[in-house]
Amino acid sequence: MASVPSGLEKGKEKERENGKPLEGVTNQKVKKEGLGWIEWLMGWFTLAYEMLFQRIVASNLENPLPLPPINDLTFIVTGSTSGIGKEVARQLAEAGGHVVMAVRNTKAATDIIKKWQEDWSGRGLPLNIEVMELDLLSLDSVVRFAEAWNARSGPLHALINNAGIFSIGEPQKFSKDGHEEHMQVNHLAPALLSILLLPSLIRSSPSRIVNVNSLMHFLGFVDPEDMNVTSGKRKFTSMMGYSNSKLAQIMFSSVLNKRLPTEAGINVACVSPGIVQTNVARDLPSVIQAAYRLIPFFIFNPEEGSRSTLFAATDPQLVDYCESLKAEDWPVCAFLSHDCRPANPSEEAHNVETAYRVWEKTLELIGLPSDAVERLIEGGEVKCKYGDSQ
Ligand SMILES: NC(=O)c1ccc[n+]([C@@H]2O[C@H](COP(=O)([O-])OP(=O)(O)OC[C@H]3O[C@@H](n4cnc5c(N)ncnc54)[C@H](OP(=O)(O)O)[C@@H]3O)[C@@H](O)[C@H]2O)c1
Repeated sequence: MASVPSGLEKGKEKERENGKPLEGVTNQKVKKEGLGWIEWLMGWFTLAYEMLFQRIVASNLENPLPLPPINDLTFIVTGSTSGIGKEVARQLAEAGGHVVMAVRNTKAATDIIKKWQEDWSGRGLPLNIEVMELDLLSLDSVVRFAEAWNARSGPLHALINNAGIFSIGEPQKFSKDGHEEHMQVNHLAPALLSILLLPSLIRSSPSRIVNVNSLMHFLGFVDPEDMNVTSGKRKFTSMMGYSNSKLAQIMFSSVLNKRLPTEAGINVACVSPGIVQTNVARDLPSVIQAAYRLIPFFIFNPEEGSRSTLFAATDPQLVDYCESLKAEDWPVCAFLSHDCRPANPSEEAHNVETAYRVWEKTLELIGLPSDAVERLIEGGEVKCKYGDSQ
């Protein structure tokens, strides 16, 4: 077990103290049109606090994080050609896991593996790592990936939905499937992937889905009828696109976690990696990028930023923690902070009514029937609207 200073149980008590009671949020009568200014200020405060104190808060964690034995386990890591995902894939492979790099640039991934094998040579058996193509900007690609994976009938112990975009300052863009790009890459496509891979995850249970989320979800507000922000009611910004997609992912994950019965043996968790120096800032103006590099004291390097994801993907404690949240009908799925402790997501993430509407709308947008999860759990098949076109 990774040496995390205090157990998840302790964090859970803290979460309970801080958490909104379920009633307080489900009884809302007035439809919210956006975040209240207190929630908005809290969001910025949370981000500023993380930025300034993440290194101190996580100072008791070892780096790299020691991993439990994972020799017999298979992990799919999306977006593993860069940043957090690349570090997660390398560490899992070096710890003996079978790692599948699910990436859009297969050539880059193949080159990375070649380099890792050379560096690893002489330290043990060759790394058990492979590449499969996955472009989250195409729902067809997601279906093709899932079909190819399920057809292998191999085990899958953890799906790590890491790939993400934050196109800072860019105008609103849409995928060929017609969805706002942040919403598609950060939420819709990972949601489709998670559901389509359920047969493999069920077969290999206990298994887990880990979503690399962000504290930026505190600034998000999702209108389930306007997930792509096209109604004209709100003016789109890239920050809004990113924050909304991360909040939608937490809401969807919370409902998915509830829909998966304990017997299925699959748990869903979202993690915040902290503020990490990666290529996620590639779209920042060059002056800000330079400043970003000048403040390494505050910003995690990818190794530090990979710890909460690695912890969520491998630590045995997570199973009991998620199960206990399920049993208590807690309104949100497990959310782990950059210091590997449970944290409370935003107040809006606890809005159960909106979460269920986000769930339904998401299934509609990704072309799945509303009972897809139940059918797959019963061993049936589901037909997705996507995947036929090449
Ligand atoms: N860095 C931070 O401070 C921070 C903070 C909070 C949360 N996060 C989250 O952490 C996750 C990883 O981000 P990062 O910081 O490591 O960023 P990164 O270095 O930019 O890595 C993102 C990865 O996602 C992949 N990706 C992007 N679009 C894709 C698509 N359409 N299909 C498949 N893969 C795609 C990228 O592949 P290409 O190389 O081909 O583009 C890359 O491998 C993201 O979900 C991000 O939101 C990061």
